[in-house]
Amino acid sequence: MQLRLAIVQTNPVFGEVELNVRSALNLMRSTPADLYVLPELFNTGYNFIDGVEVSRLAESTSGPTFQSVAEFARDQACHVVYGFAESAGRIYNSAALVGPGGFMGLYRKVHLFDREHLFFTPGDLGFRVFNLPFGNVGLMICFDWIYPEAARTLALKGAHLIVHPSNLVLPYCPDAMVTRCVENRVFAATADRVGREDRGGVDLRFIGKSEIVSPRGEILGRLGADEVGILVMGLDLHEADFKKLTGYNDLLVDRRPEQYSA
Ligand code: ACM
Repeated sequence: MQLRLAIVQTNPVFGEVELNVRSALNLMRSTPADLYVLPELFNTGYNFIDGVEVSRLAESTSGPTFQSVAEFARDQACHVVYGFAESAGRIYNSAALVGPGGFMGLYRKVHLFDREHLFFTPGDLGFRVFNLPFGNVGLMICFDWIYPEAARTLALKGAHLIVHPSNLVLPYCPDAMVTRCVENRVFAATADRVGREDRGGVDLRFIGKSEIVSPRGEILGRLGADEVGILVMGLDLHEADFKKLTGYNDLLVDRRPEQYSA
């Protein structure tokens, strides 16, 4: 089954959860797709001042953001992955997968970036792959990109597509994801945000450049550095089943784990 994959690039207003969710869903409503990928922390914004603020804005997996997204997924008969601050006793930087029937799964960011260490507990669920009607979808969040082990683990677990909610501030990731895709022969969909958050003496600018990359490392589509928008592409995820680079090189089968110990 052909997948209509949409990446959504937003510019959330810090702390304005209802507004941010409504704006994103309005953008999505204008563009039909089977799977939508939203940025990391798309409902709250990113640049928290302290843990109190994070706790105030964090939600459970059945909180108001989930309710709005789940209603959209049910009405549009689609799947959505979105990033949010998850309240579960501890606070995690998480991504939820929602389908037409409701909540389907959760990933908690394993590799926290910079001041996220002050606010979030590192993820404890491992890297997860979900079997969906159009193929196998694995989740990681933003800075996980810098650890090749994250994408590799998802590929070894059978992911055809890596779904990658992000809030990028360093310039490297959009090009680095090309390598993540080539070395695993998988698709990737990075949904980033744009804009600036200057709060509590910390000034962050987000780089946009959300993109969809093919298993051959082709950038199939990339949004601009400043634009708010949505990019939709038709994909056959089963292209990612073919791991042979040459007649003699099968990327995953030919790994030599016994040679890799440090
Ligand atoms: C990041 O992981 N949000 C840079």
